[in-house]
Amino acid sequence: VTGVSGRFNDVNMDHPSSLRASDPSGMLDVLSDFPDQLLQAVSIGRSKIELPDPEGLRGIAVVGMGGSGISGDVVSAVAAAAGLSLPVFTVKGYELPPYVGSDFLVFAVSYSGNTEETLDCFEQAAGRGARLVALSSGGQLAEEASRLGVPHLRVPSGIQPRAAFGYLFAPQLAVLERMGLIEGICRAVEEAASVLEERSMEYSVDTPLDENPTKRVAKDLVGYVPVVYGSEGALEVTASRWKAQFNEMAKVPSFCNRFPELNHNETVGWSNLEDVCKRFHLLVLRQPGEHPRVSRRIRVTVELLHESVGHISQVCARGDNYLERLLDLIYFGDYTSVYLALALGQDPTPVKRIDELKRLLAEPDRR
Ligand code: F6R
Repeated sequence: VTGVSGRFNDVNMDHPSSLRASDPSGMLDVLSDFPDQLLQAVSIGRSKIELPDPEGLRGIAVVGMGGSGISGDVVSAVAAAAGLSLPVFTVKGYELPPYVGSDFLVFAVSYSGNTEETLDCFEQAAGRGARLVALSSGGQLAEEASRLGVPHLRVPSGIQPRAAFGYLFAPQLAVLERMGLIEGICRAVEEAASVLEERSMEYSVDTPLDENPTKRVAKDLVGYVPVVYGSEGALEVTASRWKAQFNEMAKVPSFCNRFPELNHNETVGWSNLEDVCKRFHLLVLRQPGEHPRVSRRIRVTVELLHESVGHISQVCARGDNYLERLLDLIYFGDYTSVYLALALGQDPTPVKRIDELKRLLAEPDRR
């Protein structure tokens, strides 16, 4: 493994047992179980809890932070692609927008059930008579939901929120289907899970570097700051998932942006601070059927920037439909971030900074 900084462990990507030894909490195993997680998640979403009335809904808000919040971005993209005519948006903060009221469906999503921003928004939504569905592995959110008679979907506990991604987004889609707002989505998730089953072999720790594209991308990222470029829709969500996974798994700075917006500002920013720009590796996410002008913009941008930044790589989503491509690319990024962590000698699982931050924020005089 080589890179410009020299600050990485000499991990052999073709040595599964040493890779496993650097992953003491078993993130690789959690990732390889992801297709199963998706199937379980769909059945959790199908469970026979009483759901809110869809009559007269004007919109859907998903409140959640970090690994839980991204589920809302995915639900928003997938629901739009499935033809849902209501706006679906994510609230990542303490304040529910003023227009969210009794004619909104609000999913409150927190894997731990104890995230303060999400609990605040949940309370506001309940106070305004919004039609709530809560989702967590337990915690205060489960308690509050039961106290207020809000339907609650309980997902299995014991993994990192970001690794519970399937448990967090798929039940919401199943709920939308049960409420009659979208059709055929549970089946589509189940079909995507069987495609991901094949990918899990390809991306597996046992697949050598030469045949494993996720190991190859991870190896090329060592020593660089990954900057992930998506484009509007599925690839925008995916880029932000990759960025967050690089942050939390590999513990490196990482940034994301999207075409075409980045052509109107960020593209200019790579003109200066030459030495700094060389420390960035741009990862451009692609998919079949992307907007022809976006394809052209990507070609031109790569041409313009290739000498300004350290590296540019492109990764293309595979799959027969929108959902398969979205999940394939998210899965690809999850594995890449874990291999990058291992190449950098980082245990992918713990997020000590987040734990420390939450502990400091919980101290009485700091709020
Ligand atoms: C940790 C992770 C974080 C959490 C976030 C919110 O793996 O991904 O981004 O998701 O701190 O916590 P929860 O998901 O418990 O509401």
